[in-house]
Amino acid sequence: MLETTINGIKFKNPVIAASGTFGFGAEFSGYFDVSLLGGIASKGLTLNPREGNAGQRMLETPSGMLNSVGLQNPGLRAFVAEELPRMKKYRTNIIANLSGSCEGDYLAGAEILDDSGIDMIELNISCPNVKSGGMAFGIKADVAAALVSAVRRKVRRKPLMVKLSPNAENIAEMGKACEAAGADSLSLVNTFSGLAINIYTRKPFFENVIAGLSGPAIKPLALRMVRDVYKAVKIPVVGMGGIAGWTDAAEFIMAGASLVQVGTANFTKPDICLDIIRGLERFLAEQNITSPDELRGII
Ligand SMILES: Cc1cc2nc3c(=O)[nH]c(=O)nc-3n(C[C@H](O)[C@H](O)[C@H](O)COP(=O)(O)O)c2cc1C
Repeated sequence: MLETTINGIKFKNPVIAASGTFGFGAEFSGYFDVSLLGGIASKGLTLNPREGNAGQRMLETPSGMLNSVGLQNPGLRAFVAEELPRMKKYRTNIIANLSGSCEGDYLAGAEILDDSGIDMIELNISCPNVKSGGMAFGIKADVAAALVSAVRRKVRRKPLMVKLSPNAENIAEMGKACEAAGADSLSLVNTFSGLAINIYTRKPFFENVIAGLSGPAIKPLALRMVRDVYKAVKIPVVGMGGIAGWTDAAEFIMAGASLVQVGTANFTKPDICLDIIRGLERFLAEQNITSPDELRGII
């Protein structure tokens, strides 16, 4: 009943565990059967392994959290050799979240993933571009489009989904630019730039000063952006940002999302995705609807 197909990939339901909040699935398999998910988006993967940021990495905020994990990951080769075979045992779609700090790393990473057993690439353009002074690829539409078209040339077999930052100058223009550059679908949003200060040390709480805000606090902002992008593009949109229950997921679908991703809520309830899947099933049955496609963009 909840089945949805985007970019030629069939999802048994539209609920995906969001990148960076679900590891590679193993930690959650003790809480529920992760094969029941529509998909799992991996932790952000970079060409070379990364230890992540020093200092504090997470801080709870009213209705959300700030994080400064810094893309800790084993590197793409170790992912493909070790994590992916474990993930493939789950009967669900594997979305590899590709990150990088310069175009060369993204391109090398894209080639590795295009030849691997994953189902889809999610290109995370929120990373700071070290070659242009740390400004994220995802802020200016022309910078993002240049990266997306270069990655597109390397990605021939797998669908390429581009994950947008809510910190983009204009999210609808950003979506259109990525679509024109060859994206097959768009996911949004990543975290909002935030700041926390320790008033006793009189210093920023996080070593990197700026951290990413996620969770229910950002939901109305993310929902508005999903609607804006859905109206601006023709390719499928995958919505996320503060989804903490099935009604939130239904709102994102009605705003235009073909699929939804659930991030921060996994920390408060590790099997929240299952609740969301079950809740959507009940809602569709109650409403006499046979597919979430009937609700997409309905507002
Ligand atoms: C601890 C943490 C780590 C994250 N790591 C990544 C990452 O590696 N790559 C990425 O694209 N997004 C990452 N995100 C962003 C989430 O995938 C998601 O876009 C964002 O948190 C908004 O959704 P939410 O409010 O449901 O958490 C991370 C978020 C959190 C909270």
